[in-house]
Amino acid sequence: MEKIRDILRRIGDWKRAGIGGSRLRARIAGKGMEGPSIDLLIDISRTRSRSREKYPEGDRLYFTSEGLRWATPRSAADHCAGRLSSAESADISCGQGGQAISMSRTCDRVVAVERAPLNVFIASLNFRELEMDNIELIQGDCLDPEIVPRIGKDVPVFSDPARPPGSSERKLEELEPDPRAVMEVYRDRASGFCFEVPPHIRRERIDFPCEAEYVSIDGRLNRLNLYTGALMHARSSAVVLPSGYRIAGAAQTSPRPSAGPVSRQYAAEADPAVVASGLLRDALSGVEADILELDDRRTLVLSAGEIGSGCIGPPMRVLSICSENELPDELLRIGAGKVTLRFSIDPAGYWTKRKELEEPLSGKRKVHLFKGQDYIILEALSR
Ligand SMILES: C[S@@+](CC[C@H](N)C(=O)[O-])C[C@H]1O[C@@H](n2cnc3c(N)ncnc32)[C@H](O)[C@@H]1O
Repeated sequence: MEKIRDILRRIGDWKRAGIGGSRLRARIAGKGMEGPSIDLLIDISRTRSRSREKYPEGDRLYFTSEGLRWATPRSAADHCAGRLSSAESADISCGQGGQAISMSRTCDRVVAVERAPLNVFIASLNFRELEMDNIELIQGDCLDPEIVPRIGKDVPVFSDPARPPGSSERKLEELEPDPRAVMEVYRDRASGFCFEVPPHIRRERIDFPCEAEYVSIDGRLNRLNLYTGALMHARSSAVVLPSGYRIAGAAQTSPRPSAGPVSRQYAAEADPAVVASGLLRDALSGVEADILELDDRRTLVLSAGEIGSGCIGPPMRVLSICSENELPDELLRIGAGKVTLRFSIDPAGYWTKRKELEEPLSGKRKVHLFKGQDYIILEALSR
């Protein structure tokens, strides 16, 4: 551990001094390291700066680029660990330890299981670095009948399964370990399960009773946690991070626009976790607002006054709602200068479309352009 820590510190110093490529490798080799270990150390060192985006102490943690990519970010991990808080809990597919670190702070004892030897090694470095001596780390397949009894009775069992990177149609059977196999094997030991699954998996593909908790971070849908047994408190829920706003209930079908027309002076983007949970209408109950589903990713809440709710993003002023034909004249009329496109558009065509709209403009206003049946031109409120 000391040796690895020391070499990583030196790699950082060498890189800052402009030493890279074969010279860097030669220096690491001079410290007694060989081929694959050199690549691994360079990867961990390179990943440290990005680790801070997920973990406040990321610059002293050990993640490979691949391990960090799949690791649960601290805010989401802490939230989940809060729900799993107990004398003992288990993370049975712990990767390089991101989620287990948070669980070790809310549980007296954590059993962490991981199949891949490299991940076990790196997780052990992370646990030692943070002096987490209440985690028992086990290398092996969590479905192995010899591993199952190493987890206590009546404990919450967490699993963030591995998933294929490129698949667009998410299915439970693609996940490793498959949550249904885990439930079968651990059914006599677990008080309940929490499975972290891809957030875009369709509800009807989840074929067991559970609470589906959608989690957003910084306005983006980030995670879907499925809680079963004693961990299940509702049919559906949403958590908005970092604010911590939470709503739970029974999911409704997609949000319908409210009955009468609402005076539309303000608009805000509905949080995607709240939308995905089917609880947006509940979250806005008692509030006079129109809900406009624009596309798969965006829903706007329009209202006469500013709405102070954690289920929506910052309020914006509605400058115009117009058709495609009217759009160029409307942008001129309101004195727009910069136009940020906030609708689904092929990334390759984004700047062409934006330049086409901005070219005739000479105004100073920075506007956000949304698109449903009509175009909606909004401006952030200055605070
Ligand atoms: C998405 S990663 C977990 C990341 C982790 N939540 C974190 O925050 O760092 C999934 C991990 O499950 C492990 N895994 C897959 N099948 C397994 C099994 N049957 N037993 C144990 N670990 C398994 C993979 O090796 C991989 O490291």
